[in-house]
Amino acid sequence: MINGGAGVAFIGSGSAQLETALSNDMLSRVVDTSDEWISTRTGIRQRHVANGEESLASLAAQAAQRAISAANLTPGDIDLIVLATSTPDDLFGTACQVQAAIGATSAVAFDLTAACSGFVFGVVTAAQFIRTGTYQTVLVIGADLLSRWVDWQDRTTCVLFGDGAGAVVMQACDRDRLLGFEIHSDGSMNGCLNLAYTAAAAPLTDEISTQKGTFTAITMNGREVYRFAVSRVPEVLEKTLFHAGLAADDIDWLILHQANQRILDAVAKRLKLPNERLVSNMAKHGNTSAASIPIALDEWVRTGKVLPGQKIAMSGFGAGLTWGAALLEWGR
Ligand code: ACO
Repeated sequence: MINGGAGVAFIGSGSAQLETALSNDMLSRVVDTSDEWISTRTGIRQRHVANGEESLASLAAQAAQRAISAANLTPGDIDLIVLATSTPDDLFGTACQVQAAIGATSAVAFDLTAACSGFVFGVVTAAQFIRTGTYQTVLVIGADLLSRWVDWQDRTTCVLFGDGAGAVVMQACDRDRLLGFEIHSDGSMNGCLNLAYTAAAAPLTDEISTQKGTFTAITMNGREVYRFAVSRVPEVLEKTLFHAGLAADDIDWLILHQANQRILDAVAKRLKLPNERLVSNMAKHGNTSAASIPIALDEWVRTGKVLPGQKIAMSGFGAGLTWGAALLEWGR
């Protein structure tokens, strides 16, 4: 804990419920794939997709409201909203729309972009504001609608991703429950995973050409990302545990970004963590990017698996490339 600052507690979680489920079988009618290929290579059986009426802001607001209720607070108690997303409704930011939708009139709100590491980066960012005494109560939301940006004809990517939102409320407290964290970036590997803007020249006057462009669908070098994840994720978790003076065996729950069951299993094996402590819901949701960790956390909290006082290790990894880990104790 920083001198003169406060500790951080994790006091409530929430997630949004999306109606529309897209099964592997349904997807195999859109693109040349099969339930067998997808489930054996990734562990994914279905994903949820936002329908025409749902927006990033509406899903994020739903998750936020549930987290605030679970924390026994009202929206007016929130000082800061950090919305981790790579798929905003508005490139100027979507967090303020969420602030208005939930009526968090005292909160300052901003977006944070770190792809699938976004939620962990958001938790770390929130903790800085709390530890320095700047804010008391912070809402961190992870929300993504990757279905907007997948190429439904590219079977190497479209089978992986889904939509969702999850949130957590963090609050200042005497004893610090954020036991450790590490966050990292390696831009030299940026080309492995992109949702990139492509510019086109747009002549304005005889002398000046501006640009007008579009974002192109997600592209990914799956094998490189896989190799990156299975080496960096155990490493960052081991470092975080070491600096917190803890061993892997002290972790009650390991919540990794839900990218691929094989990645999760490889990380748990390297940490010698029994499979019962490895949280996985990707069969139901696929890879929901910044939303995957808070959705998994909320499902485990609401079903009574995560109990107050238990230790949770989280790790996010993805585009950037970015990766990070946070070690926390759940509850007030
Ligand atoms: N259905 C059927 N066949 C397919 C599909 C599909 N959906 N996708 C690929 N194939 C085929 C390929 O064309 C290839 O065929 P070929 O041998 O005839 O050329 C074969 O299956 C093997 O393809 P690989 O790419 O080698 O498959 P791999 O075992 O590496 O699995 C996967 C691919 C699942 C993408 C894996 O590499 C992976 O999970 N990587 C990590 C990706 C990840 O986690 N990304 C998210 C990061 S988070 C973020 O920031 C968004």
